Amino acid sequence: MTATLIDGKAFAATLRARIATEVAQMKDHGITPGLAVVLVGEDPASQVYVRSKGKMTREVGMNSYEHRLPAETDQDSLLNLITRLNNDPAVNGILVQLPLPKHLDESLVINAIDPAKDVDGFHIQNVGLLATGQKAMVPCTPLGCLMLLRDRLGSLSGKRAVIIGRSNIVGKPMAQLLLRDSATVTIAHSRTENLPALCREADILVAAVGRPKMVKADWIKPGATVIDVGINRTDDGLVGDVDFAAAREVAGAITPVPGGVGPMTIACLLANTLTATARSNG
Ligand code: GUN
Repeated sequence: MTATLIDGKAFAATLRARIATEVAQMKDHGITPGLAVVLVGEDPASQVYVRSKGKMTREVGMNSYEHRLPAETDQDSLLNLITRLNNDPAVNGILVQLPLPKHLDESLVINAIDPAKDVDGFHIQNVGLLATGQKAMVPCTPLGCLMLLRDRLGSLSGKRAVIIGRSNIVGKPMAQLLLRDSATVTIAHSRTENLPALCREADILVAAVGRPKMVKADWIKPGATVIDVGINRTDDGLVGDVDFAAAREVAGAITPVPGGVGPMTIACLLANTLTATARSNG
């Protein structure tokens, strides 16, 4: 049996259309959500992401404020910009594109963002709120994965989930979200012993390691739902962390790369910006 393809591109387009409708309603009440994106330096991948975020933000009718700073920007200048954005009522969401140049202290910068405007959900206050099951801004990529999983499976209660990767951006918040939905969650990583056998127990397998085609077909439980967060540029073009061609013969459902999780990340960023705007307007 060949797996069902989970069409993140279509799901994200539907989500953006819903967001655009809500933005139009807010505009009727004199409120236009605004998202500020800060890019320091000239990292090519980051430039592509930032351009794409700006375009999608405008497409749903929100205001996009892009701040491009030179690579040698010092910490105080960046913190001053964040303070200005925190105090600007036209700005409802703030995103500082990562990675930052080495001389800047990433956690200091992220934690300077007003937690209510932290649409990435990286501020320590939002991390803590999510971990304790309270109302938080939730990181966009795991939020997008959760939406796809709920759409495919309905209830996640009691399902065995294995996440490969323990990053603060994907692995750890993904675990919190799955736990909140009553899945039984294991986080695996580079030191995990007998990773293939562990993965074979998973009804839900989330791969977020950044290693091209690392997850093989015989790591997958027949019928499992496989979410591939990897975006790896290789000589074969863009590939995920899962050996897609072989895996789709075993899995019940699988996200392709590209066109799976990727488009969901930006759609969720817009959803978070809408949420932040609604909360700030009572
Ligand atoms: N760099 C790679 N992914 C992300 C993300 O989700 N947010 C930010 N701010 N930077 C990133």
